[in-house]
Amino acid sequence: MKLIRSIIYCLTFVQYAHLIAPLWWDIGLQQQQKSSISSNPYFNLDQQQQQITEFLDDPSQYCSSLTGLSTGQKQICLLHADHMPIVSQGTAKGIQECQFQFQDRHWNCSIVHDGTVFGGVLKQANRETAFANAISSAGVTYAVSRACKQGLLKSCTCSRTSRPKNLPRDWSWGGCGDNVDYGYRFSRDFVDTPENEIKLDILPISPILVDTINNTLTLNDYSIINDHSLLKKRREMNRRKVRRQMNLHNNEAGRRAVYRLTRVVCKCHGVSGSCSLRTCYQQLPTFREIGLFLKEKYDSAVEVRFSGHGGNKNRQQQTHPQIRTRDRRFAGPTKDDLIYIHESNFCDYNPRIGSFGTKDRLCNKTSHGPDSCKAMCCGRGYNTIRKYVQEKCNCKFVWCCSVQCSTCTRLIEIQVCK
Ligand SMILES: *[C@@H]1O[C@H](CO)[C@@H](O)[C@H](O)[C@H]1NC(C)=O
Ligand SMILES: *[C@@H]1O[C@H](CO)[C@@H](O)[C@H](O)[C@H]1NC(C)=O
Ligand SMILES: *[C@@H]1O[C@H](CO)[C@@H](O)[C@H](O)[C@H]1NC(C)=O
Repeated sequence: MKLIRSIIYCLTFVQYAHLIAPLWWDIGLQQQQKSSISSNPYFNLDQQQQQITEFLDDPSQYCSSLTGLSTGQKQICLLHADHMPIVSQGTAKGIQECQFQFQDRHWNCSIVHDGTVFGGVLKQANRETAFANAISSAGVTYAVSRACKQGLLKSCTCSRTSRPKNLPRDWSWGGCGDNVDYGYRFSRDFVDTPENEIKLDILPISPILVDTINNTLTLNDYSIINDHSLLKKRREMNRRKVRRQMNLHNNEAGRRAVYRLTRVVCKCHGVSGSCSLRTCYQQLPTFREIGLFLKEKYDSAVEVRFSGHGGNKNRQQQTHPQIRTRDRRFAGPTKDDLIYIHESNFCDYNPRIGSFGTKDRLCNKTSHGPDSCKAMCCGRGYNTIRKYVQEKCNCKFVWCCSVQCSTCTRLIEIQVCK
């Protein structure tokens, strides 16, 4: 049975390699649908606490209700079920921030309801793929770091980092800080796990079978595949290796952004605000700051090539492909940089690559930025639409305590791309 299944899988492998299975990111949307979490979930402690105790009663049922988790992520879920609502909120935060940062870009983080959140973009290897990975990884790091401080998780508490050396001696250290060290580690385990689960280390010499249960490649001597498709498969393996390296790099860049922007803040105490005493602790920035930072990294993302894979020598001892900049004159990217392999183009409709095109997108006639009609419409020009909008007007304060408005109709003009 297993052999037959493997053969069938193997034969379909090449054709279906471009499809992607649901991803863990989907739990960011599942959460939004399940309960309308308040817009500021981090302060809704009661509701969270209640949710979490419910889940802890039966982690195995709860974990299997979450779609898109990889095998390793399911195991993490079973061990740390209480983390999952937090992971889900962090992911949702990442998605929202993506949409905020990219609202006036060709690709605007629109959600595809196929279980992968961003759809075809994730199959590509462009700047947008890089940003999407970084922001979701940052979202998980952020949410978990904060949840530790809030006492929502069994396995972590307030930050235990040591006192910064430059802190004035009479300021005290150790208020309850955001636990970025823990958040970083958890996010690394959880977010990177799926990338590491598929073992691509054995490059096939003879035809291979892909073992669907083990996720490993096994050598065997059934000559069911000709050399041509073998070559294709080998290329596919290389492509995947390279993609794995790219994703891992960008996931890490997202986590490092959180780490880097976390700072020390101090609170004043003392008689009537005299600030004679200060307590200092570690605090996360706002998530908006992280979004802005990563958006800058997106704008300056580094186009890379990989070397040290493929080739026929030392097939069995291959290590990870090495990253280098495409333009050899430049130094390699740092761990804080986002990296990508292909340039992207989201001007035209092409769902295969996750592009919805910019037809009918709003644009701004007078702007010179990315929201300008020139940039947004990719040179196709725009249509001007006049329409009536209703809005509140003549608002009056009525004693006590309400505001009464009337509704006015106004003619406005908008531009949309051809
Ligand atoms: C996984 O692969 C190994 C060989 O690498 C094999 O012995 C084992 O039976 C496989 N496990 C399953 C569940 O298929
Ligand atoms: C994002 O792009 C899609 C497709 O181009 C469009 O339908 C949607 O309105 C855009 N969203 C925003 C917030 O502009
Ligand atoms: C269009 O761009 C101009 C210049 O950047 C700005 O002042 C204006 O508010 C924008 N209009 C809209 C509708 O966003």
